[in-house]
Amino acid sequence: MKVLVVGSGGREHVLIWKIKQSPHVSEIFCAPGNGGIASDAKCVDIQATDIDGLLKFAKDQGVEFTIVGPEAPLAAGIVDAFEAKKMKIFGPSKAAAQLEGSKVFAKQFMKRCNIPTASFKVFDDLNKAKSFLTKAEHPIVIKADGLAAGKGVIICNDLNQSMEAVDQIMQDKVFKEAGNQIVIEECLIGEEASILAISDGENYCILDASQDHKRIFDDDLGPNTGGMGAYCPAPVITEELKTQIEARVIEPAIRGMRREGIPFKGVLYAGLILTQDGPMTLEFNVRFGDPEAQAVLPRLKNDLMELMAASCDGRLNDIELIWDKRTCICVVMSSGGYPGAYKTGYEIKGLEQFATPTADTLVFHAGTKQENGKIVTSGGRVLGVTSFGQTIEKAIENVYHSVEKITFERCFFRRDIGTKALLAGGPTPSSGKR
Ligand code: AMP
Ligand code: GLY
Repeated sequence: MKVLVVGSGGREHVLIWKIKQSPHVSEIFCAPGNGGIASDAKCVDIQATDIDGLLKFAKDQGVEFTIVGPEAPLAAGIVDAFEAKKMKIFGPSKAAAQLEGSKVFAKQFMKRCNIPTASFKVFDDLNKAKSFLTKAEHPIVIKADGLAAGKGVIICNDLNQSMEAVDQIMQDKVFKEAGNQIVIEECLIGEEASILAISDGENYCILDASQDHKRIFDDDLGPNTGGMGAYCPAPVITEELKTQIEARVIEPAIRGMRREGIPFKGVLYAGLILTQDGPMTLEFNVRFGDPEAQAVLPRLKNDLMELMAASCDGRLNDIELIWDKRTCICVVMSSGGYPGAYKTGYEIKGLEQFATPTADTLVFHAGTKQENGKIVTSGGRVLGVTSFGQTIEKAIENVYHSVEKITFERCFFRRDIGTKALLAGGPTPSSGKR
């Protein structure tokens, strides 16, 4: 089968690495891909949001299955466009992708389905939002309704900050029309975890839990990023919690979307926070997390192509997931300055040591490109170095040993990825920092 993967990050690289192992896959294209993906797939210069271009390419090349990595094309309706032409594609429809594309939709949906989430109010009027804030308790969380490249959530410690946040979103339109509406919600405290499920609209299977590291600096300090590292499984999600999350979040979400006439196919990603009152849903995403996918998928023993095809065809019942027992940790190596301004074009050295994946380390590319036969940096998150270990300690040792072998100018990475897993069950490292 000829497969097209849409996207250009570490998530798309691990997806390609995984489906390449499937006997069902004969050829892989990636649009637009990156410097490392180019060694595993044929990269084509079509942007992930160019739906017409992707559809034309897929038809011309006889692509039989398309996998969409990022949220933007899903929210823009790529699945509807492909399905209208009878082309197989993995992911939710435009209507179902609203779960990520509109925080107002997601919050109101959670309320309708009794899915535990922070209490909230929706505003489309600046003055009404401000008058609400003057009487509200702080800290408080302000969220732009639409997609904002992961930057649309602002945690405000006092009234000055919250007033400034609503001004920026609703008056200065820093997130453009994504800020036409906002959600103002209660600030929750607890450790965060991600649970992903693959659904066919009715049945679903839940993947092992993972934890992302959103802040740029160690100890969860500094601004939010796309994610600086992840590990899987997340020991903080005990079997008991997993059962609770399935019963209170995943199952009601899949059932609710079906009931509302917009069945959810694809990856449902629940971003959770484990509060004293139990797990609460911070957000839904409608695709694999990045870097979470880089820590989750290497542990999955099933043929991912079969799972995705079953999601498209409504055949996900009775599939049992099989997992590598080892822990997997992904450390993101980034360009110094990210998530703010950074320079690119630096040669990455040391990659040849991982050209053939070693028994316990894989290197996935994100912001890289090939230039004159060399791999150079071209983005904020550059590489995801991913290692296995029989224990969490061993996985940490392996991953940092590998990271030290790769160098590029102004490289930055967190040195504490995985340490929270060692503390699981103990004090929550992120609590009290807000
Ligand atoms: P989101 O894009 O909704 O996942 O939000 C990004 C990050 O903001 C989350 O990973 C949390 O760290 C934080 N966040 C979002 N909503 C809340 C909330 N209600 N209380 C505390 N932190 C939050
Ligand atoms: N790592 C967070 C995300 O993919 O949204």
